[in-house]
Amino acid sequence: MLEAEALGYDTTLVAQHLFHVRDETLDQLETWTSCAALAALTDRIEIIAAIKPRLFHPAVLAKMATQIEEISHGRFAINLVNAWYKPEFERAGIPFGEHDARYDYGREWITIVRALIAGERVEFKGAHFTIDGYQLHPTGRYRPRPIIYAGGESRQARDLAADTADVWFINGQPPENVRALIADAAARPRRGPQLRYGLSAFVIARPTDVQAQEEHAHILDIARQDAPLRERQMANTDPKAVMFHTFAQLPKHVGSNGGTAAGLVGSYDTVAARIRQFQELGIETFMLQFQPFEAEMRRFAQEVRPRVSRLATAAA
Ligand SMILES: Cc1cc2nc3c(=O)[nH]c(=O)nc-3n(C[C@H](O)[C@H](O)[C@H](O)COP(=O)(O)O)c2cc1C
Repeated sequence: MLEAEALGYDTTLVAQHLFHVRDETLDQLETWTSCAALAALTDRIEIIAAIKPRLFHPAVLAKMATQIEEISHGRFAINLVNAWYKPEFERAGIPFGEHDARYDYGREWITIVRALIAGERVEFKGAHFTIDGYQLHPTGRYRPRPIIYAGGESRQARDLAADTADVWFINGQPPENVRALIADAAARPRRGPQLRYGLSAFVIARPTDVQAQEEHAHILDIARQDAPLRERQMANTDPKAVMFHTFAQLPKHVGSNGGTAAGLVGSYDTVAARIRQFQELGIETFMLQFQPFEAEMRRFAQEVRPRVSRLATAAA
């Protein structure tokens, strides 16, 4: 993250899983304690921590969020995700819940968190939570509250994002899908400023399109060797989680959350042009994946970002 910041990246997202979803014997970072540490080590970059509501009571989570907002001097954000991987809940005796019920729970949960991180005094009575006069200090020293992102592709996820989030994260997929998803989310009931949009994407940028396609084929080949691990992951996944149905419809791709299906695969010029295309559709934040991470993150900063800036200037 220090290098990302030095290279001029604006934001970073730490996923939330208590153990690795493909192979439980692998090490897995704890999201919230890591984000607190990263907040102390960085100066400028936004730090987004993913959160699955069932893992923390909303008052506890809101307190942690306001603390990291303090440590980071106003650079903290949360990414609300309503979970799809069952074992980390079920084996700890934490209710996982049915798909739509998870979203009902998540709605109450984020309503409370959103009010608490904004410094409001909260009275709340719902099906899951009763909050009787809760207010956190300090809040609002740097801005009204931390930013709220939300992921998920189901109708419930879009409703919840439109209703309670600042930014909706869309899974990586072609521009025509993204256009339709944005139109759908924008048409949902909302109060306050317009919903903003982010996109997840795995980048493979090379001097030529052919070189990038060859690298894509090579990574797809390596990924094929992980087929048994992917099968085990799917066996532990909520079959109603909509994003996996979307991934199954997309052309062969690598990376999480749609990955290369967003089409950021090609020459530096091709990738820059595709990013501009997404920006014109309304995507403001690109949550990028690279492999190997550091080397490709550097290459993107050096080769692709200046091209995107030039295209944007030319279009202005
Ligand atoms: C950018 C992005 C990041 C995500 N990060 C996580 C994560 O850290 N942990 C997780 O369990 N789900 C994560 N998700 C997945 C979901 O938000 C959601 O659980 C999933 O899409 C299933 O919900 P759905 O049926 O609404 O699609 C992420 C999604 C996106 C788009």
